[in-house]
Amino acid sequence: MQTQVATIGKPLHLADKPSPLTGPRDSFGRAMNYLRISLTDRCNFRCLYCMPAVGMKFQPRDELLTDEELIRLVGIFAKSGFTKFRLTGGEPTVRPHLVDIVRGIKSFPGVQELSMTTNALILGRIAADLKVAGLDRVNVSIDTLDPVRFKMMTRGGRLDLVWQGIEAADAAGMKPIKLNTVVLKNQNDLDVIKMAELTLAHDWQVRFLEMMPMEGVGPVYDESLVTSEETRARLEAHFGPLKELESNPSDPSRNWRIPGAPGTIGFISPISAPFCETCNRVRLTADGKLRLCLLWADEVDFRDMMRNGATDDDLLAQLRGGVWRKPWGHRIAEGERNTVRGMSQIGG
Ligand code: 5AD
Ligand code: SF4
Repeated sequence: MQTQVATIGKPLHLADKPSPLTGPRDSFGRAMNYLRISLTDRCNFRCLYCMPAVGMKFQPRDELLTDEELIRLVGIFAKSGFTKFRLTGGEPTVRPHLVDIVRGIKSFPGVQELSMTTNALILGRIAADLKVAGLDRVNVSIDTLDPVRFKMMTRGGRLDLVWQGIEAADAAGMKPIKLNTVVLKNQNDLDVIKMAELTLAHDWQVRFLEMMPMEGVGPVYDESLVTSEETRARLEAHFGPLKELESNPSDPSRNWRIPGAPGTIGFISPISAPFCETCNRVRLTADGKLRLCLLWADEVDFRDMMRNGATDDDLLAQLRGGVWRKPWGHRIAEGERNTVRGMSQIGG
């Protein structure tokens, strides 16, 4: 276990300013109310920016939390004041019994919002059932509308099925639909225009992400990072000036609109404009560790504790203690690399 605590750039005023949010606080005064839950480290795609082409090792089933363990833990998080929950992966839709898991999580009164980040490959088949079970929204990862490039970037993915998935989510009333596009140089950097054009026809949020140098994809990052500024300049050269919208401080996306468009365009800029100061989230890995920060290896165990008979009070204490030692943040832009787990093992 890593005990080092990151204090980089800690604004001293933060700890003195209680935020109105619920949820346990970390030692910097940030209140945590958002849990991202990785249901599996497996995926039916192999995106260039997420996984290496070969050599991915996946965890054996018995190391993952069971459905019962997972739902019990979510109840503990809800009890401690967490209100927002998101299912992630790998690809969450490859997890067996997904609909039952959604229903189980939504059964806790404290769970105000349940969403999922998915590649939507099989969403067309299950969106309606997920909505009925209690899934409020989805964010779909889609990097281009060109089927050939889509296949290249996902190493084999089918855009037509993903598109059916998005339409099924929209038809099921999962609003707002958010689409996430990781922009890579010489891959999809010219396709951002077509992605942004979707906001002219749909009330969707199309969001452009800066790639992060997670474990296994460092070399891709080194040659492919496109900053949000570059993407915005490209869009403005085509559509004219975008109109900036007011943003919610705990949303890492800065949002804009093509004048008159029903949908919005967002930029998520972990590299050029880190949002650590307003971070309200921690992550639960599929093997039952609380990951305190995407970019730090420090994790708190829940799985072994549960398997050794921990009570709900023990778990609650572990949760509060874990959140308290959440590190401040990262310095990727300064060259820091502190990965250990890849994105598909943490869940983005
Ligand atoms: N950098 C930024 N975003 C990434 N994602 C996956 N890998 C990376 C990376 N290296 C995004 C996917 C998806 C979410 C789970 O994380 O596009 O939207
Ligand atoms: Fe799978 Fe998502 Fe990673 Fe792509 S980004 S390989 S869809 S987990």
